[in-house]
Amino acid sequence: MTATDFLDRRHDEKEPGPATWGWRGRVRRWSGGLVKPQMGPREQAYEKDRAQIQKDFDGPRSIAFVNPKGGAAKTTSVLATGYTFGTVRGGGVVAWDNNETRGTLGIRGSRSRHRNTTRELLAELGRFGDVHQSRIGDLGAFVRSQGDAHFDVLASDERPDVTGVIHAKDFLEVHALLERFYRVILVDTGNNMRAENWLAAADAADLLVVTSTVREDTGYSGLWMLDALQDAGYANLKYRTITVLSDPSEKVDPKLAADLVAVYEQRTRGVYRVPYDPALVSGSEVPYGRLSAATQRSWLRACAGMAAAL
Ligand SMILES: Nc1ncnc2c1ncn2[C@@H]1O[C@H](COP(=O)(O)OP(=O)(O)OP(=O)(O)O)[C@@H](O)[C@H]1O
Ligand SMILES: [Mg+2]
Repeated sequence: MTATDFLDRRHDEKEPGPATWGWRGRVRRWSGGLVKPQMGPREQAYEKDRAQIQKDFDGPRSIAFVNPKGGAAKTTSVLATGYTFGTVRGGGVVAWDNNETRGTLGIRGSRSRHRNTTRELLAELGRFGDVHQSRIGDLGAFVRSQGDAHFDVLASDERPDVTGVIHAKDFLEVHALLERFYRVILVDTGNNMRAENWLAAADAADLLVVTSTVREDTGYSGLWMLDALQDAGYANLKYRTITVLSDPSEKVDPKLAADLVAVYEQRTRGVYRVPYDPALVSGSEVPYGRLSAATQRSWLRACAGMAAAL
């Protein structure tokens, strides 16, 4: 171990973030940039992940978050991805709740003065028919800005009496509209793989993110879903899928976690683990700014993996 490695180990925070680049960052800051120690390996990895997320795509890209089991961290993952892509790319990101029944993206994202959802947008699609006249600002009546997280949320129908059918045509129309105004479209999905809008989302996605918690039932559901997609003839499924595995509690069974990582590594391009974060437990509005440094770093890594696959 070199002396610099030693200093890195001793003085870098456990999961360094932009404000705390260990002794190198402090020297850089305190000297007003006059002394610039070279980046350490962890800082280099951090910058590499950011650069990957900031890459230019040659068109809009859609990512669908899928697992037919409830509580598999789909909605949480969509919001964490929205926050990461939104802040690192500086906007151009929308998270859309494509649940056929009431989804929770709207209540877990920051609120807005309006209560409009996909349903109201579908009813008003005519306003956006003329591509020369319609403006992104007009979408502000339907999406909910996430403030400092730099992305928007389009909620699902929030009425209690919702009958729960969104046709494939509805999905395609809203998706085409979002593609006109955003560069990255994150699609939260429901738990019925046979629903028209679920299948339409899987078809439209450039990338599927299988979310699972470190639990046997959610892990199994995700694999069962991959089998079903494979049987349905989805081409290059492994190539267009990644896995995000969340810890559902402070302590998880390490053997189960290792088994899930191993099996999903066989079935998808890569597996990214994200830690349990007490800030996410309540299931209410996600306090983006209060996510732990470890959570933020893990999502940066996972989102870099997503961007690399797009
Ligand atoms: N990393 C984490 N740390 C702590 N709690 C988490 C984490 N990830 C998810 N949770 C919690 O787990 C619960 C279920 O997650 P979530 O709502 O994202 O699942 P879902 O797959 O969208 O479920 P559904 O299919 O019912 O919509 C939420 O209350 C959320 O706050
Ligand atoms: Mg959900």
